Amino acid sequence: MAAVVLERPTVHVALLRLNRPEARNALSPELREELREHFLALAQDRDCRAIVLTGDRRAFAAGADIKAMVATGPAEMMARGDEANWAAIRDCPKPIIAAVNGYALGGGCELAMSADIIVAGQGATFGQPEVRLGIMPGAGGTQRLTRAIGKHRAMLMLLTGASLSATEALAAGLVSKVVDDESTVEEALALASRIAAMPPIAVAEIKRVVLAGMDVPLDTAIMLERRAAYLLFGTEDKREAMTAFIEKRSPVFSGT
Ligand code: HXC
Repeated sequence: MAAVVLERPTVHVALLRLNRPEARNALSPELREELREHFLALAQDRDCRAIVLTGDRRAFAAGADIKAMVATGPAEMMARGDEANWAAIRDCPKPIIAAVNGYALGGGCELAMSADIIVAGQGATFGQPEVRLGIMPGAGGTQRLTRAIGKHRAMLMLLTGASLSATEALAAGLVSKVVDDESTVEEALALASRIAAMPPIAVAEIKRVVLAGMDVPLDTAIMLERRAAYLLFGTEDKREAMTAFIEKRSPVFSGT
């Protein structure tokens, strides 16, 4: 049984479901490798323009698999090469929408934060409880959480293991929107379809500049933005979109 299931529910949209319900979708080494393979393949797949990542109703993911770590030392952790698994998600040029129901804890919260948009069901819970296990986040949690919600709220969560409800996460800026639990995947798929209908090169450049710009000085980030913005003036889709506007018709994008 695959630990990650790929579906193609609508045109240009891929849906990845974590599939270890018996373990609250804990991120076993096998699951992470499957995720990596899917993200690498979808990154290259010209038919895929947006990716929705979800778990099930009980858990998005309850973190790294504790049973696969209890007897593991630092050398073996390093040898597992988990960075490559996370890098495949981090470097994926396609927009990623996390549809989160239930628990998003530890590596599960980090996985949600690796997405570009987070749609949370009302019953979702976000947290980094690693400190309670005598460890700490190791896949960006200390950094992404701090950037998302600020130092003082992040420290409170990271140092105590306290979690946030979906509405608290929305107020803190950790999630993009909160919907009924029944609607989470549907809403994420609808957003994915809207994005997939946009000119793909513009979408890719926006994602690239937002992410790259977060980690460099503002002047450099604005330079990156201007360069990318001018580059888009060379695309066929820009010509089509502006011509369609002037001709009062719907544009037809070719992705070129
Ligand atoms: C392995 C897990 C798991 C996990 C749950 N399970 N989370 N197995 N790793 N992270 C398993 C349980 O052992 C149990 O298996 C089954 O899933 C159901 O779990 P329950 O606890 O019975 O369910 P529930 O009462 O609904 O509670 C759900 C939960 C709780 C709140 C999510 O399971 C929990 O606190 N899990 C651990 C969360 C956590 O600490 N995550 C951080 C991990 S460290 P059995 O066989 O008994 O049925 C991390 C970063 C590592 O993510 C960084 C490395 C550098």
